[in-house]
Amino acid sequence: MATYNIGYFVGSLSSTSINRTLSRALIKLAPDTLSFNEIPIKDLPLYSQDYDESYPAEGTALKQSIEASDGLLIISPEYNRSIPGALKNAIDWASRPWGTNSFARKPTGLIGASPGAIGTAVMQSNMRSVLSFLDAPQLNSPEAYLSFNPETFSDDGTINDDSTREFLQHYMDEYVAFVQRVLDANAAGHIGDPNSPAK
Ligand code: FNR
Repeated sequence: MATYNIGYFVGSLSSTSINRTLSRALIKLAPDTLSFNEIPIKDLPLYSQDYDESYPAEGTALKQSIEASDGLLIISPEYNRSIPGALKNAIDWASRPWGTNSFARKPTGLIGASPGAIGTAVMQSNMRSVLSFLDAPQLNSPEAYLSFNPETFSDDGTINDDSTREFLQHYMDEYVAFVQRVLDANAAGHIGDPNSPAK
């Protein structure tokens, strides 16, 4: 069976991030055929087009990590009903210089947790626009908006509630099948222009 390298982003820089806990829970639920590597975002400078002539090492390393991944998984909080700035900055770095968009054709899953009732739904809606523009095929279903209850998750990612575990297992099973489908389609040459986005 094929093994896949999944690059994942945690959209929070917080040392007590509930989304990092969620990332640990998801990794525990994944099959042995997936290996996970976190793609760090916290040391990136703020992106400017001035860097395009000569990308700094942090930007190049980010792009290489994405391009070396078979699939991507974004686990992120919602900040002010949108994408946290640190994560959006990383996405902007990866999308440039023009013509080298690292997200193109990468099968991408999106999930997030917040203490509130809507569980990052608005951030995810915003993120879907961004990923569409970047030509990143997205897992559309199931959607996963988690209202985080600290009693449900241990810090190491152990899930202490059967229905949450079943829901996240279903998410992971569908994610794995989706990555396989997109990679098969990519191999057959069915998916769009790797040089998007437009200038
Ligand atoms: C938040 N939080 C938040 N929650 C939410 O559901 N919708 C929102 O729009 C926001 N906005 C927001 C902005 C900023 C600047 C902060 C710091 C927080 C609360 C947020 O969900 C909570 O702090 C989570 O714990 C953040 O996730 P991590 O960092 O723990 O993974």
